Amino acid sequence: MSNIKCDIKDIGLADEGRQRIEWAERDMPVLRMIRQRFEEEKPLAGVRLVACAHVTTETANLARALSAGGADAVLIASNPLSTQDDVAAALVKHYGVSVYAIKGESIETYVKHVSIALEHNPQLIIDDGSDVVATMLKDRPDLLPNIIGTTEETTTGITRLRAMAKDGRLSFPAIAVNDAQTKHFFDNRYGTGQSTLDGIIRATNILLAGRTVVVSGYGWCGKGVAMRARGMGSNVIVAEINPIKAIEAIMDGFRVMPIIEAAPLGDVFITVTGSRHVIDGTHFARMRDGAIVCNSGHFDLELNLTALKELSTDVRTVRPWVEEYKLQDGRRIMVLGEGRLVNLAAAEGHPASVMDMSFANQALSAEYLVKNKGILENRIHLLPEEVDLEIARIKLAAMNVSIDSQTPEMIEYMNSWQSGT
Ligand code: ADE
Repeated sequence: MSNIKCDIKDIGLADEGRQRIEWAERDMPVLRMIRQRFEEEKPLAGVRLVACAHVTTETANLARALSAGGADAVLIASNPLSTQDDVAAALVKHYGVSVYAIKGESIETYVKHVSIALEHNPQLIIDDGSDVVATMLKDRPDLLPNIIGTTEETTTGITRLRAMAKDGRLSFPAIAVNDAQTKHFFDNRYGTGQSTLDGIIRATNILLAGRTVVVSGYGWCGKGVAMRARGMGSNVIVAEINPIKAIEAIMDGFRVMPIIEAAPLGDVFITVTGSRHVIDGTHFARMRDGAIVCNSGHFDLELNLTALKELSTDVRTVRPWVEEYKLQDGRRIMVLGEGRLVNLAAAEGHPASVMDMSFANQALSAEYLVKNKGILENRIHLLPEEVDLEIARIKLAAMNVSIDSQTPEMIEYMNSWQSGT
């Protein structure tokens, strides 16, 4: 640790953290290959980098790849409740990464960590939710001339980047990692699907079979959650605002209705919309005694917990990550993980196997930004599709799966328009 700057819970947890980081690495073959190449080629040599991410075993493996590439990296938490303290300790002690992240940190500490990270005078920012980029624009515009570019991990962060672009504030290239096919098809769907149920089960130990689960939002995350809840034997209701996604949910076999109608029917409510106050006071007021409510969207404002508190006479913690709100008429509503991402607050986030592809995209986006320094337009970019396909090819090879390739006849046909009926 010696001279590595940090603000973490307990350096004594480092050995346990290293063991878990190595465990995750076994399921991250693509990122491992990138790390090995980065070790030789040093594509990020000397680049000052700030990464704002959930500090998990998977993120630790991303940090290892970035450091192997020569980056001078500082890592901060992207959520007050998602840090794994043993991982933070291992990164500092065993991998020489400067980390500012403590599970359960206050909002003040969270904000302080963002501003400490900005003191690093970053050239590259890897963001998850866009808090670092937004803070830089608001508080530290003096840093803008040094910025080579940023990458964004999540749907919510990209929504914020689009709003910045609309306001004419996006004065650097940004790569929408979330929009890569090897990211959202897998991380958002299978990752969120599994880890959200994992968080609910670890927090409550309830049986999902036979329960009514209400999923609010049918984007890639909502699709994954609804699919996995059905797989566990739940009756799933979907709430949506987008008519096309609503039809998708119907044709996937789910009941669709407004959240106000679903409120008295649900045993478990899960928000994955990216929006605000999706479950509000009027909905809480209609819920059954014992209803369980949680959020797996990026920010904690999907549930209006202020409104719930106003309806309640008492709030108490009944299990780790479970708060019981008692309403005036005696009904109780259980809120998991303080309304923050339940999969990271009450469980360990997405498994390594999907984060492998997400973080391969992150590492390759960092390299792409540096390689194309000064060339890319100041707007939101996708990584080239060939990179996406290459990540998928390596992943398939690691899974020991081979697939067909096109014959010359197929290629010719696919490139022609002459032959038809
Ligand atoms: N987001 C969701 N799951 C994650 C994980 N395991 N690591 C980092 N970010 C995540």
